[in-house]
Amino acid sequence: MSSGLTIRPEAAEDEAAVRSLVADAFGDPAIAVLLDDLRTSVAWLGLSFVAELDGEVVGHVAYTRAWVDDPAALVEVLVLSPLATRLDHASKGIGTALVTESLEQLAGRAEPLVFLEGDPGFASRLGFVDGTLLGFKAPSVRIPGPSFQVRTLPGRPGLVTGALVYPDVWWRHDAVGLRPDA
Ligand SMILES: CC(C)(COP(=O)(O)OP(=O)(O)OC[C@H]1O[C@@H](n2cnc3c(N)ncnc32)[C@H](O)[C@@H]1OP(=O)(O)O)[C@@H](O)C(=O)NCCC(=O)NCCS
Repeated sequence: MSSGLTIRPEAAEDEAAVRSLVADAFGDPAIAVLLDDLRTSVAWLGLSFVAELDGEVVGHVAYTRAWVDDPAALVEVLVLSPLATRLDHASKGIGTALVTESLEQLAGRAEPLVFLEGDPGFASRLGFVDGTLLGFKAPSVRIPGPSFQVRTLPGRPGLVTGALVYPDVWWRHDAVGLRPDA
């Protein structure tokens, strides 16, 4: 991890830097628009974190609300997305530190689980495992099996099972899983 790196909750004045960082990192302004819409949706819990280095925002991650349709009840869970680091600071451990430390800052919350869609190699380094192997069902058949990843929040037992249910904002943006031409 880079020395001098701080992982902290996003402040209002970070929003513009975060928007531009997310658009650049994904090479797609649509992801920044998705983040804008998440902020004003039922999914938003204010769980947005930045990595700051030398006074500049060099990484961002958001955790938003979703549900697992457990046989006993709907259970609120978190979805980690988007995650982005600034292109000129890639592979310095910032993404790893951002997720690891923000998850620590989420300890004590009621949600038992965090899900993400992403590369299983990178996700496993962050303590995530293949959700299907734990009996969870992905919200779309277009999420390639191993990319559907889940992690128990620190200190929370994972006594939940069922299908992950995304709020409508993800569907409005067609941002679930992969399309053949994506
Ligand atoms: C994914 C991302 C956040 C990683 O940030 P980072 O600060 O470079 O991460 P770290 O330095 O902690 O880790 C980098 C390592 O993860 C690997 N890695 C990063 N993204 C990866 C991916 N999509 N698939 C496989 N491996 C990946 C890198 O190869 C690197 O490996 P190395 O350390 O062996 O060289 C950054 O590459 C990014 O913003 N990507 C574009 C947006 C994105 O794809 N976000 C994730 C999906 S929400």
